[in-house]
Amino acid sequence: MRIGVLTSGGDCPGLNAVIRSVVHRAVVDHGDEVIGFHDGWKGLLECDYRKLDLDAVGGILARGGTILGSSRVRPEQLRDGVELAKGHCADLGLDAVIPIGGEGTLKAAHLLSQGGLPIVGVPKTIDNDIASTDVTFGFDTAVGVATEALDRLKTTAESHQRVLIVEVMGRHTGWIALHSGMAAGAHAVVVPERPFDIEELAKRVGARFEAGKRFAIVVVAEGAKPREGTMNWDEGGKDVYGHERFAGVARQLSNELEARLGKEARPVILGHVQRGGTPTAYDRVLATRFGWHAVEAAHRGEFGMMTALRGTDITLVPLGTAVETLKTVPDARYDEAECVL
Ligand code: F6P
Repeated sequence: MRIGVLTSGGDCPGLNAVIRSVVHRAVVDHGDEVIGFHDGWKGLLECDYRKLDLDAVGGILARGGTILGSSRVRPEQLRDGVELAKGHCADLGLDAVIPIGGEGTLKAAHLLSQGGLPIVGVPKTIDNDIASTDVTFGFDTAVGVATEALDRLKTTAESHQRVLIVEVMGRHTGWIALHSGMAAGAHAVVVPERPFDIEELAKRVGARFEAGKRFAIVVVAEGAKPREGTMNWDEGGKDVYGHERFAGVARQLSNELEARLGKEARPVILGHVQRGGTPTAYDRVLATRFGWHAVEAAHRGEFGMMTALRGTDITLVPLGTAVETLKTVPDARYDEAECVL
């Protein structure tokens, strides 16, 4: 069998573990040939690839990022992109393509699969917002990074009697905010799923100071917004790929809370540090299992599917189902967190 693998969209700790696992399972156990496309779908569209053998994936298990590179270019965004991708797969004699990516990548994978390409998708994102899988690799690492940052920020906040508004990633969902906020014992968590009321938030933070506490930490997901009409809000805009370019929720919240509470406030944006560096053991294991199962699915001819974690088992779900909705933070999870903050 000849298998093509690619990593597309925002990078994520654990991508290299999937690539390594695909190569080990396919080359060593099945005697397959594996090629890796450079920079995501762009590599497939431009026929830019290299052969992946055991040497090529040596020593990459613990390395962050992706040895193949990534981009946000998607076939459906280009005129004739889908036909081009199909043509290149045929020319290269590929029996299977394993794209590793988040929401956008999996949507493109679904489209190509409907067009007849033999695809097995592997979900990844630090945001943990892919429906149909309990967890995506990268999330555990990102939560660990954010939690460590929050622990550190507490000591400086306390020294200066400040309110720190810590912005974590999460365009559409607040999973990183929820988990890191709970793990670090933040004093409020603000997520995109629940537009916030600035008055309530100010009251909550103010109550801490009234109770004699010297500082407060608010964790906010980058995509969070206020309840309509409750405060002046800069929505930001779109970047060249059409993704939301947020106008800085931490900065806006920090200004507002400072004005309302008369306490010094500072915005802290953790940004891409959450995505960089070595994956945790959990993420390496999950990524390795996904890679192994993607190769097995390809050998069974189960295409148009995505690997998924359900409980402790790895299963396959149709790509079409996986991209239907995002996995948002349910109210019950938010309520649990609120009561222990
Ligand atoms: O990987 C998803 C994500 O982490 C989002 O939470 C964030 O908005 C986005 O990536 C930012 O990615 P980039 O700056 O690479 O476009």
